Amino acid sequence: MQSNVLIVGLGNMGSALARGLIAAKFDVKGNLQVFDSHPDKVSSFKDIAVNDLKAAMEPHAVVLCVKPHDLSGVAEDLSGVISNQTVVISILAGVSLHTLEQKFHHKGPIVRAMPNIAATVGCAATAMCHNESSSSKDKELAWQIFEAVGEASWTKESLLDTVTGLSGSGPAYIYMVIEALTDGGVKMGLPRELSAKLASQTVLGAATLVKKSGIHPAILKDQVSTPAGTTISALHELESRGLRSMFVNAVEVATERSGYLGRQEGQK
Ligand SMILES: NC(=O)c1ccc[n+]([C@@H]2O[C@H](COP(=O)([O-])OP(=O)(O)OC[C@H]3O[C@@H](n4cnc5c(N)ncnc54)[C@H](OP(=O)(O)O)[C@@H]3O)[C@@H](O)[C@H]2O)c1
Repeated sequence: MQSNVLIVGLGNMGSALARGLIAAKFDVKGNLQVFDSHPDKVSSFKDIAVNDLKAAMEPHAVVLCVKPHDLSGVAEDLSGVISNQTVVISILAGVSLHTLEQKFHHKGPIVRAMPNIAATVGCAATAMCHNESSSSKDKELAWQIFEAVGEASWTKESLLDTVTGLSGSGPAYIYMVIEALTDGGVKMGLPRELSAKLASQTVLGAATLVKKSGIHPAILKDQVSTPAGTTISALHELESRGLRSMFVNAVEVATERSGYLGRQEGQK
């Protein structure tokens, strides 16, 4: 990788991305720079931090990791730093390619990406879309950035709100599942520490088996449900309380909310 990438905003996501890229040796040969308006946030990235955006080495790509309401300020700060050759990569939920083109007066490549917080441990699920000015080289650069912190996919922009509702917000749904399973174990007598350890490893193991085997989860579920056994009793309970519908509805409302917030942001 011979491209200079500048990450702007070192909060939850920006710092996770920066750490992931460093772990993937992306920072070698001065390929990675980071900036945050808050001095405390850059302290753990001293070697690659820039104090002033105007002093940033001309970046091939700028990865925007600020909150949507900070977008206008960042666009102003970056004027003169990015050219029409710079790939502008945004992870801002709900902010469209069109809004980004307008805010940055950018006629060059733009990529919208929706990663998730698992980027912190190199396991993000990211889906991306790009504008028409993006060349295959620009797309390759975006791909390399997000593959460095997990798995990346391309999709169309009209589906990014759904991506936000599924995998962007999804870790929080699963944290709730882990917490609830832990409570279940505690209720039935397990010490909390052991219960939490078993619950999180169970989620990790189940997901790993789906990914590694490629077997449909319904088949895996059937394989572990012994006739008249414990698992089928629990599955019946979950079904009767509408667990599947709850998750489908959760993705639906989060998708709608992402669309609504994006429309509001576009009107500013
Ligand atoms: N969190 C998630 O799970 C998740 C998942 C997918 C996508 N996203 C998207 O990722 C973006 C960042 O989310 P986050 O949770 O990482 O937010 P965050 O923790 O608030 O981080 C944003 C960082 O940007 C800094 N910042 C604000 N204005 C700046 C400027 N003009 N120049 C440089 N830095 C500036 C903030 O500093 P101050 O604190 O000093 O303002 C803060 O450190 C959001 O747009 C969100 O939609 C988040």
